[in-house]
Amino acid sequence: MAKLSVRDLALSGKRVLLRVDFNVPTEERDGVTHITDDTRIRESLPTLTLLRALGAKVIIMAHFGRPKGTVNLKYTLRPVAEHLAKLIEAPVVFSPEVTGEVPAGLISKLTNGDVLLLENVRFHAGEEANDPAFAKALADLGEVYINDAFGAAHRAHASTAGIAAFVPQAAMGLLMEKELQYLQGELRCPASPFVVILGGSKVSDKIGVIKALMEKANTFLIGGAMAYTFFRALGIPTGNSRVEADKVDLATEILELAKEKGVRFLLPVDNLETQEISAKAQPRSTGLVSPAKGVTDGWEAVDIGPETIDRYRTEIAGAKTILWNGPVGIFELPPFAAGTRSIAEAVAASSAVTIIGGGDSVTAVKQFGLGDKMSFCSTGGGASLELLEGKVLPGVAALTEK
Ligand code: 3PG
Repeated sequence: MAKLSVRDLALSGKRVLLRVDFNVPTEERDGVTHITDDTRIRESLPTLTLLRALGAKVIIMAHFGRPKGTVNLKYTLRPVAEHLAKLIEAPVVFSPEVTGEVPAGLISKLTNGDVLLLENVRFHAGEEANDPAFAKALADLGEVYINDAFGAAHRAHASTAGIAAFVPQAAMGLLMEKELQYLQGELRCPASPFVVILGGSKVSDKIGVIKALMEKANTFLIGGAMAYTFFRALGIPTGNSRVEADKVDLATEILELAKEKGVRFLLPVDNLETQEISAKAQPRSTGLVSPAKGVTDGWEAVDIGPETIDRYRTEIAGAKTILWNGPVGIFELPPFAAGTRSIAEAVAASSAVTIIGGGDSVTAVKQFGLGDKMSFCSTGGGASLELLEGKVLPGVAALTEK
């Protein structure tokens, strides 16, 4: 079913409640909060700009961190309001209260095109509890609801889902639309060969995605620590590498499923191993692995090796659709970054539709300066995984049908 879009609505003079995901990484320096990556804020600008151009009075709702339903100024959105004002080169009114007379009074003074940001909705227990009374109190501040918070769309919270029951129209924003277009639309019937690159530390995090994509993918390229749970399943020595011992049977099941479905499920044929996880480490190659030879005792695998890089690059070069979720090594440390960097470069150079599925892989791609070489980088971590697993996201389900 198609959902109503912000583009379908006449919004001049309307009080529009816009839910965004401003849950951005920050760090404290000299007592001041600095936003270290404002991608999520920037990605909300197309919808915000459209709303302002349409003459809406924009009331932004967002969460920040996990303050667990209490007011904790460590998680205030005030610095985000200041940052947003710089980006849009216009004032952003900040409401220190989320519901009630304070925001209502500030909103009553807004003129068409003005922007107001409410304090962190998670300062109220009603947000995560999806309390109808809290959802209604939010809804009472506006007339129309737009959800552009793809990154939080897997949460059934008051401002992401419950609120839709208390407004006449609940539509998706442009970012939400774009996320669904790539992570759902493009992957419904992906052009083949469809290559899925999966990394990250745990098989358990990716199991749903592997099973769902097994129906569509031609080839999986596996990296990251999750590869070593598969090694264990195949009897390849794993040394001190991270292995989910309780998921080894599951790994065996996945390998059998791939065989049964004729899906190529490639694991690293060599690895970088180290005895020290640090920026000064000097990892070495394990050489080609076999049931007799894998990661050395006392050593830990931290990246895919040169032969694996070559093989994966060849697969990537031949793909028509590529989905990548999860780094293939500890890319945050330069000695272990070569695998993830090489994969990022190969994906960037590909003429396939290239979709980067949120979280650490997007961080990696950006760190290597390759973000704009990809067809799409998702802003959702958990949300993109759940969507790829085929789950219905509550934040999308709640929206009005077109
Ligand atoms: C995210 O950062 O993934 C989203 O903003 C959701 O945040 P949460 O995991 O705290 O619900």
